[in-house]
Amino acid sequence: MTEHGSCEPLAGQVLTARQLLGSVVENVPMARGTWRLRLRCAEVARQITPGQFFMVRDPRITDPMLGRPFALFDLWCDESGERAGVDLGYLVVGKMTRLMTSWRAGDPVEIWGPLGNGFPPPACQRLLMVAGGIGQTPFLAVGREALGIQSYGAPPRCASQPESIKLLYGARSQDYLAGLDLFEAAGIPVEVSTDDGSAGHAGFVTDLLQQELDSTSPPDAIYSCGPEPMMAAVAKIAAAANVPCWLSLETPMACGFGICFSCVTEVRMDDGSTDYRRTCVEGPVFRAEKLCLR
Ligand SMILES: Cc1cc2nc3c(=O)[nH]c(=O)nc-3n(C[C@H](O)[C@H](O)[C@H](O)COP(=O)(O)OP(=O)(O)OC[C@H]3O[C@@H](n4cnc5c(N)ncnc54)[C@H](O)[C@@H]3O)c2cc1C
Ligand code: FES
Repeated sequence: MTEHGSCEPLAGQVLTARQLLGSVVENVPMARGTWRLRLRCAEVARQITPGQFFMVRDPRITDPMLGRPFALFDLWCDESGERAGVDLGYLVVGKMTRLMTSWRAGDPVEIWGPLGNGFPPPACQRLLMVAGGIGQTPFLAVGREALGIQSYGAPPRCASQPESIKLLYGARSQDYLAGLDLFEAAGIPVEVSTDDGSAGHAGFVTDLLQQELDSTSPPDAIYSCGPEPMMAAVAKIAAAANVPCWLSLETPMACGFGICFSCVTEVRMDDGSTDYRRTCVEGPVFRAEKLCLR
């Protein structure tokens, strides 16, 4: 692994972020148009926490020139138990993600990270995670930390263990549900919904959220990631039930570390006015009531 430089950090930026050269360990299909990419990059693996992200690009080409942001799916350890690298889960949507499907073991990958704030360590009794589509990727690490299976960060951050956790995972159809075996192996209970009814509840994942909130043991914290209309609905339902809710945005980004302002999102200020915040530095995770989602 070669470190080839780091930028002078800006105020509010994650000071530990670095630009590094890692390599592909494996790149395997998980579901329709969805892959899991394992990268060797011990520096990022040692520091990153659930909900943080990193930018990746192919150093052998100049098109696409800009890196692309991906959430930590999980970190992996070598035979000696040392954190050796990170996994990301990606859905093929365009130029870069199409190209990524051709990456093979040993190929070099530029990585900037860890970036962003991530989800707070859970400080609740019943944590409910609500994912839509590829927005499920942050929740394997969130769940493994909450269950005490894996620690994250340097030094490892303290995370209390909730009494219960659950993932509600909505997708277009059964063939897009990715990584269910990994959630099961980690002991994270998952309830699924599909738009076409091919698996689990037929309908939106927010129907499942409402059922959880109406149950005899409702969640006392909600973490969510997915398409913005879904997260807007999650925020509304959580607010009506008076349950604290954190949302992770997937706003398109150019630099990933605070200098280009391509990633701003509108936020509510304490005095009732609105302003803009950079998703890459002040996010991607925000308290739901702070965001002006439509
Ligand atoms: C913090 C963060 C974490 C993310 N984590 C993941 C992840 O774990 N897995 C994953 O698959 N994706 C994730 N994304 C989204 C991912 O970065 C984009 O899918 C990727 O950049 C697309 O690159 P591309 O070159 O393949 O597509 P492009 O050719 O750049 O774009 C193809 C099409 O997708 C649209 N598009 C591009 N980026 C986004 C976006 N962020 N949201 C909505 N539409 C977009 C474009 O407008 C265009 O229509 C994350 C984004 C952010 C900001
Ligand atoms: S992506 Fe450049 S400031 Fe956020």
